[in-house]
Amino acid sequence: MRKNVVAGNWKMNTTLEEGVGLAKDVNEALKHVDAKCDVVICVPFTHLASVNAVIDPAKLGLGAENCADHVKGAYTGEVSAPMVASTGATYVILGHSERRQYYGETSETLKEKVNLALASNLTPIFCIGEVLEQRENGTYFDVVKAQIEEALFDLSAEDFSKLILAYEPVWAIGTGKTATDDQAQEIHAFIRGVIAEKYGKEVADNTSILYGGSCKPSNAKALFAKPDVDGGLIGGAALEAESFMGIVTAF
Ligand code: PGA
Repeated sequence: MRKNVVAGNWKMNTTLEEGVGLAKDVNEALKHVDAKCDVVICVPFTHLASVNAVIDPAKLGLGAENCADHVKGAYTGEVSAPMVASTGATYVILGHSERRQYYGETSETLKEKVNLALASNLTPIFCIGEVLEQRENGTYFDVVKAQIEEALFDLSAEDFSKLILAYEPVWAIGTGKTATDDQAQEIHAFIRGVIAEKYGKEVADNTSILYGGSCKPSNAKALFAKPDVDGGLIGGAALEAESFMGIVTAF
């Protein structure tokens, strides 16, 4: 059966010292709870190796927030999937709406990134989600379906099974405006149906689909109680060990 996962997305926050401190705090807190989910922190590239050195990989997974769409070479400033893997990280967020919106990531580049991440044995946490206008005009089902189809449906069933999906309505990210648990359930069930149509029910049932967008300790329980919500991708609330742990323990 699919796993429950709570993953932090630190985005462009924390200095190295602050980040290592936060990772230590989360790692320490996890020793005192019986987490009913996999717990992951996705941190800036600069922090990966140092954070890896202070966490217990059996309790806390480590990931990057992006990787390059090339494997190596003359791409100044980029960080490849093999480089990420060489730090000890085992996850990578791909296709976050901020990457799509501010850095022009398209389904074509994301396809490459997913392939390269999988080739380096990284687990992609692949993000999808609509903007407010698409929510309001009712096209969000089509938008999310197209995002999945375009970037992921060339994968074999075996490779698709290695992914984690994160549904993140752009209008809920960092806005304090969370999707209701019913809104999340509706679209998560739809996403699972899209996967089932392509790869069959077993693959769909085994795919973890996380919710992201202003998830916090106060709303995590209701969201995670929904049958098709398998955890969360957490931005702001992941920047303090206490609030992050409040979400981890919502399972
Ligand atoms: P947020 O971000 O929790 O701060 O809304 C979620 C995300 O962008 O992954």
